Amino acid sequence: MANLWYKNAIVYCVDVKSFMDSNGDGTGDFIGLADRLDHLERLGVTCIWLNPFYPSPRRDNGYDISDYYGIDPALGTLGDFVEFIQAAEDRGMRVIVDLVVNHTSDQHHWFQSARADRASPYRDWYVWRDEKPDSITDGIVFPGVQKATWTYDQTAKAWYMHRFYKFQPDLNTTNPAVRQEILKIMGFWLALGVSGFRVDAVPFLIEPRGVLTDKPVADPHALLTEIHDFLSWRKAEAILLAEANINYEEAPSYFAAGDRMTMVFDFSGNEQLFLSLARETAAPLRHALAVRPEPGGMGQWAVFLRNHDELNLGGLTEQERQECFARFGPEPDMQIYERGLRRRLAPMLDGDPARLKMAFSLLLALPGTPVIWYGDEIGMGEDLSLHEREAVRTPMQWSPHPNGGFSTAPKKHLVRPVVDSGEFGYHKVNAAMETQHRNSFFHAIADMVSARRSAPEIGWGGVHIIDIGDDEVLVLSSSWRGARIITAHNFSSKPKVFHLAEEGIDELMPMLTESPSGPLRGDSEISLSPHGYCWLRCNGERR
Ligand code: NOJ
Repeated sequence: MANLWYKNAIVYCVDVKSFMDSNGDGTGDFIGLADRLDHLERLGVTCIWLNPFYPSPRRDNGYDISDYYGIDPALGTLGDFVEFIQAAEDRGMRVIVDLVVNHTSDQHHWFQSARADRASPYRDWYVWRDEKPDSITDGIVFPGVQKATWTYDQTAKAWYMHRFYKFQPDLNTTNPAVRQEILKIMGFWLALGVSGFRVDAVPFLIEPRGVLTDKPVADPHALLTEIHDFLSWRKAEAILLAEANINYEEAPSYFAAGDRMTMVFDFSGNEQLFLSLARETAAPLRHALAVRPEPGGMGQWAVFLRNHDELNLGGLTEQERQECFARFGPEPDMQIYERGLRRRLAPMLDGDPARLKMAFSLLLALPGTPVIWYGDEIGMGEDLSLHEREAVRTPMQWSPHPNGGFSTAPKKHLVRPVVDSGEFGYHKVNAAMETQHRNSFFHAIADMVSARRSAPEIGWGGVHIIDIGDDEVLVLSSSWRGARIITAHNFSSKPKVFHLAEEGIDELMPMLTESPSGPLRGDSEISLSPHGYCWLRCNGERR
């Protein structure tokens, strides 16, 4: 029988080198991460997603891989990795890892060989042109920073394609040898105990554009089916979580009811969520939820507030984006790639606990699997003095001790500076203080996570939106196997009172809420404070 563990999972994304340094060299490592699993356990995490930890020149935070079968020596050894997997498993946590096979680092020996010799077996692993392509700037992903998508290589005496930075040459994924190698990489990490992959840059991975072939690529999505089939043969319960910033219309071809990608990040929903927060009305998010296609079959959406990249608002209209910029990142320095914000959640919401808790409660109440970016559970901030998206990747703030307890190395040796001043500096924001006080932000989030884990109606069930005649409140009803949960979120700064005029509700039992405490009759008044939220179980029939 299929194991659909991911449907009720709580995913937590970690950048190993920024999480915990065990040996005082200034860089986080696997031993440090294993040592801090208690923090994840307290939060209620069930699945850890690791940002790339492979050998890499780290010019794109490790998304420029120079060896797919190893560990960056600064982060540990393969032995440390396996020990970490075991420690996570002992705590009931699964681990998924990044599969970054749209491109390699230009330092990878495949590319070095391919560029040095036209007869190299790796030459056709990349995408070359002898003549300068008509446009060398088509499809730039990082506008304002990236200069081209084709670059001339003096050694190769040819142009090579790179969707991302020029040090990330694109692999020719139409080449059967490359496809075979992708499966081999997956098999390797599966054998070491991972439960699946977060697949990087999926729309680019499958694009036939620029590939040297006489015949058009018949079905670009077939690669996703191949990857999925291989995965399920090797490890039936393993998953694929796609990074695909696509329109909802394209989603069914990525999911194929779970026969291709098990999960796809809901980027469209994410930007509508932020537009809703900016406008203090649920209307944009409600519309997104109403038009979002069902993944079907084994598929599931993955939902998130922030991640390791910029907050990407590229799908909004210019006016909507400007509204979000004005509200969450008015300084030019906060904006990036003409479409996004390089900020963490807490500073964008002015460090306001009510707004932050509402945002997290909403994340956990949305249909889909929630994914949390490390540090957001304690309200960390960003460092805008850092380059591009590095701003949101500063080391985890563990304690008020030097370097926020992240490392005992001299400050100048840290992999990235720790945020050490201002409202979000480690003296004021750190895990030790947050876990110590029962009424802290961290404990509020942990309570929400616990509520979510005991509400399979949300992860497994179907959802419908209840119209209470007020756009500023989002009321969702999630049902599964005859049980039902209603969640309400107030986007506005005004208190709200509403009646639930729903069929078949006799009694509502509060499971997560700031105001009502006892059972409510189905037609009772529900009150929410400004940016308040509540979760109610119907008919008190379960738990
Ligand atoms: C998406 C990753 O999330 C991002 O950080 C990276 O720069 C690109 N893919 C290229 O790998």
